[in-house]
Amino acid sequence: MKVRGSRRVPPLQLSEPKNPSILQGSGFLLKSNFVIRISTPMTAILGISAFYHDSAAALVIDGDIVCAAQEERFTRRKHDHEFPVNAIHYCLEEAGLEPEDLDYVGFYDKPFLKFERLLETYLSYSPVGFRSFVMAMPLWLRQKLHLPREMNKGLRGRYRKRYIFSEHHESHAASAFFPSPFQEAAILTVDGVGEWATASFGAGRGNRIQLTHQLRFPHSLGLLYSAFTYFTGFKVNSGEYKLMGLAPYGEPRYVDLILEKLIDLKEDGSFRMNLAYFNYCQGLTMTSRKMDRLFGRPPRKPEAPLTQDDMDIAASIQKVTEEIMLRTGRHVHQQTGMKNLCLAGGVALNCVANGRLQREGPFDNIWIQPAAGDAGGALGVALLIWHQLLNNPRTADPLDAQHGSLLGPHFGDDEVREFLEDAGAVYHFVPEEDELCERIATLIASEKVVGWMQGRMEFGPRALGSRSIIGDARSSAMQSVMNLKIKFRESFRPFAPSVLEQRASDYFEMQGEENSPYMLLVASVRNSRRTPRDGDTDNFQGVQKLKAVRSEVPAITHVDYSARVQTVDAARNPRYHKLIQAFDRMTGCPVIINTSFNVRGEPMVCSPQDAYHCFMGTNMDVLVINNYLLFREEQAESQRIDREQYLDRFELD
Ligand SMILES: [Fe+2]
Repeated sequence: MKVRGSRRVPPLQLSEPKNPSILQGSGFLLKSNFVIRISTPMTAILGISAFYHDSAAALVIDGDIVCAAQEERFTRRKHDHEFPVNAIHYCLEEAGLEPEDLDYVGFYDKPFLKFERLLETYLSYSPVGFRSFVMAMPLWLRQKLHLPREMNKGLRGRYRKRYIFSEHHESHAASAFFPSPFQEAAILTVDGVGEWATASFGAGRGNRIQLTHQLRFPHSLGLLYSAFTYFTGFKVNSGEYKLMGLAPYGEPRYVDLILEKLIDLKEDGSFRMNLAYFNYCQGLTMTSRKMDRLFGRPPRKPEAPLTQDDMDIAASIQKVTEEIMLRTGRHVHQQTGMKNLCLAGGVALNCVANGRLQREGPFDNIWIQPAAGDAGGALGVALLIWHQLLNNPRTADPLDAQHGSLLGPHFGDDEVREFLEDAGAVYHFVPEEDELCERIATLIASEKVVGWMQGRMEFGPRALGSRSIIGDARSSAMQSVMNLKIKFRESFRPFAPSVLEQRASDYFEMQGEENSPYMLLVASVRNSRRTPRDGDTDNFQGVQKLKAVRSEVPAITHVDYSARVQTVDAARNPRYHKLIQAFDRMTGCPVIINTSFNVRGEPMVCSPQDAYHCFMGTNMDVLVINNYLLFREEQAESQRIDREQYLDRFELD
């Protein structure tokens, strides 16, 4: 079913702007009282983020988030940064709109300000840094400085109205506050860098946001974390969550060194970095030789074996990050006097820091934008136009307005059947939802690995039960089976649990109303669910530690007993909730493994084709698409996809 039927949006009647230059493409002034009065409530706004990483498009109609998707899901190139023509096409098609029906198109940052930063940074290091400057130039000259032209191209020349540019951190802030369940909240955005800002805070009230403070480039928590991502041999802008996953294996023995030599951290969470240790302003690497000397080693080579030192470095920078987030949280609370906090920006995907902020920080409630990285900026700018520029009122939805972040493409049964027929797949159709859930729960309980594709695709990096690979969290074998035979990824990474919201506090140290519907908070497995320590637990060293059984749900329990929890409720994802309920009835355990439906380096699957190819190219036992059920052993040998060839399609992340 389409979200909206095909329709045309009537044109807006705009009041005469008091200062027309404000709206001439170069951006609008948030602090002005400029308001456009509209004569009709039918307004379609497209938000776009592109050209850095994770391009995306989002469509907001009359203030409702109708759809949003990342470009990578369509092009099958992870973190695709190209102009999101496919995501835009999807959004328009979903709503039955043509480009000319759009009333506003917004872009999530201001390229000229970014370019100014690039030039100023280059000039202050010149002539050092010439090489990186020259490498960055072609893309700027070809695309980034000609954004309206690129956007016209992307909209097939059929959108003739104005483009609106918001500032990068305002887009993040808008994506955090406007969909949140709060009428009023403090807002904190933390990332690598936008135009100049690397972190900012302020407050949202009703339909307005106001950012009052910022930390500026080159001092950046996101870039600091990315520098250590690079130093420990992971890919920048992609491997940050691996560094976070590695941290529990290490001892944070470098914390003092980092605080003494690398950053000058203030009580309010702001800091200055000692740039002699970093190279991102002027070079092609994130860290400098001086950093190598400080740690007595060069950066780890990608894919080289992980050492205890890598783990200790990971633990140290993670601890410093948590400290910065806690100090900043306390300061923002004290400055704003608000009891709620909204978070966005790439650093808001650090769910260990988020978990500590939730439990140890001063705020009563925290809401984090599920697409906290730059993809979410597309949604932010669209909502900013609706609420702040057009002055439309906002009443916070107690659940939130993100619709479970299930905002992407969906496929009808007819479409799925046609594809399966064409592909020569052997399938079973299970029309009754209850029966389907019972059957899948039985398969999970017998240690089958299930590819689960249902309804609308997730917006944001986490699989939330629509494009997920699921399995039995109680199984001690499942962690390595799924890592090495299904996902083909590093064995040190544990899986995340999906747990029935109403049972979450039975298994995890979460209090009362606390929930984590978007898998953005880490919580510890309760003592009562932990397995008593034995020789095994202590004998394993390094990444082998994950093999020790630590709890009743070992597949999702990290070596420090933490888990990246997703609480599942019937309102946001009813079928997934029903499935876990069936598993709970059958086994007494309301927890299953939930990992994204992809292999290493592959974007999450989007279409039935993607899901089927991933199923046939890996060792997955079962595939479910809507009500269609496929078993691996029933598929014809001739349909199998060569695994090496399949994996070769995707660059390692
Ligand atoms: Fe950002």
